[in-house]
Amino acid sequence: MTEEAVTEPLVAFPQDRTCPYHPPAGYDPLREARPLSRVTLYDGRSVWLATGMSAARDLLSDPRLSADQDNEAFPSPTEGFRNRVRGRRLSLLGMDDPEHKALRRTVIPYFTAKRIAALRPRIQEIVDTLLDAIVAGGPVAELVRAFALPVSSQVMCLMIGVPYSDHEFFEEQSRRLLAGPRVEDTQKAGEQLDAYLSELIERKQREKGDGLLDELIHHQLAAGELERDDLMALAALLVVAGHETTTNMISLGAFTLLEHPGHLAELRAERELMPAVVEELLRFCSVAEGGMRVATADIDIAGHTIRAGDGVMMSTSLINRDTAVYGTPDELDWHRPDRHHLAFGYGIHQCLGQNLARAEIEIALRALFDRLPGLKLAVPAGEIPFKPGTTLQGMLELPVTW
Ligand code: HEM
Repeated sequence: MTEEAVTEPLVAFPQDRTCPYHPPAGYDPLREARPLSRVTLYDGRSVWLATGMSAARDLLSDPRLSADQDNEAFPSPTEGFRNRVRGRRLSLLGMDDPEHKALRRTVIPYFTAKRIAALRPRIQEIVDTLLDAIVAGGPVAELVRAFALPVSSQVMCLMIGVPYSDHEFFEEQSRRLLAGPRVEDTQKAGEQLDAYLSELIERKQREKGDGLLDELIHHQLAAGELERDDLMALAALLVVAGHETTTNMISLGAFTLLEHPGHLAELRAERELMPAVVEELLRFCSVAEGGMRVATADIDIAGHTIRAGDGVMMSTSLINRDTAVYGTPDELDWHRPDRHHLAFGYGIHQCLGQNLARAEIEIALRALFDRLPGLKLAVPAGEIPFKPGTTLQGMLELPVTW
C-alpha cells in the first residue's frame, strides 16, 4: 500500500491527554491502524506517525532517518518547538552519525551503570532531606514544587556540575524554552540559558569543580577534542533533559500509583518490586512523546513507502501500548512478562540518562511512599492540572495530604 491509499481524514497529532497517564481518546483510530499512520501537525502539514513497537524499532535504527533539525522538512509538533530549534544548535538529539557517535562516545563514560550506582547514596540524601521538610511542613504539600522538581534539579546539578543555587533561573529558562508560550519566550529563554552556561564554563575553566562539565572542560575542551560551541550545546541539552523529564516521571508516577490503590498496597507490602514498578510506570506514562525524524531516502516499511523528505514521528504512548507486545496494554501491571518499552527511545539516540533516571525515580518513589504511608491526593484527581499535549507529559501540580 502506498501513501495515497491511507484513509482520510487524518488524525491531529499531538493532542491533549484527558487523563494524564493515558493516550488521548482522539488517538483511537491510530491504534486501529497500527503500526504506521499519516497524521496532521499544528501547521496542517502531514507526517508519518509510528504507533507499533516493531515498526518504531526498525525506523529508529534506520540510518535513512535523520535527526537534523536544520532540514527544512524536519517535522515540529508545535509552533513553539519550531521556533526553539530554528537557528539553534541541538546537541546529540539533533545530530546524525558520524558526528553524533563521536560526541556520544565522549560523554558515555559519565553515564555508566557503575557511575550511577556510585551516585545513589547522594540521591538518597537529597530525597530524604526534601521529605524531612515536607513532613515538617505537613500534612499538606504540593509535590511538584516540593519534591519532584527539586529532586530532579539537585541530582542534575550534582551530576553535571551546575550550582543548585541557580536553580530558579535554569528551571524557569528550561520551562520557557520547552513550553513557550510565545515565540519571543522560547528564543529569549534559549539566549539567557546560553549566556548563563557560557559564564559558567568560563568560571569552571578558572576553577575546576567535580561535575561532568568540569571533566569535559579540563579534558576534552582543553585538549582541543571538543569545540566550545559544542560543549555549550551539550550543556544546554543536559541541563534541560536532565531535570525536566525526571520531574515529570516522579510526579506522574506518584499520581498514577495514588490512582491505583490496590497496586500501591502490593508495592508497599513487597518493596523489592520497585525496579519492575519503575519500568512499568515508564511504559504506562510515556512522558516523552513524539520523537522526530526526517527521511533522507525512500523507506519501505509495513506495507507503506516513506518518501525521502517525509517527516516521521514516534508516538511513544501508542508504541508502549501496542497490543501485539503487551496483551493488556492499558492496564498497569508490573508482573507482565515483557518489560521492554520505548520510553527512553531506541537506536543511536536512546536516552543517555536512562540509568540515572531509573535510579532517581526508584529512590524518590520508594522513599515517598515509605515516609508517608497515608499519602493521598488532597483534591479530586480530575481537578489536578497536568501538562497539555506537547511532547513532554507530566503533572503541573500534585497537591497531597497524609
Ligand atoms: C524519565 C526520564 C527520562 C525520559 C523519559 C527520557 C527520554 C528520552 C528519550 C525518549 C530520548 C530519545 C529521543 C529521540 O530519539 O528523539 C532521550 C534522549 C536523551 N536523553 Fe533522556 N530521558 C529521561 C531522562 C534523562 C536524563 C536524566 C538525562 C541526563 C542527565 C537525559 C539525557 C538525554 C540525552 C543527552 C539524550 C540524547 C541522546 C542522543 O541523542 O544520543 N535524559 N531521552
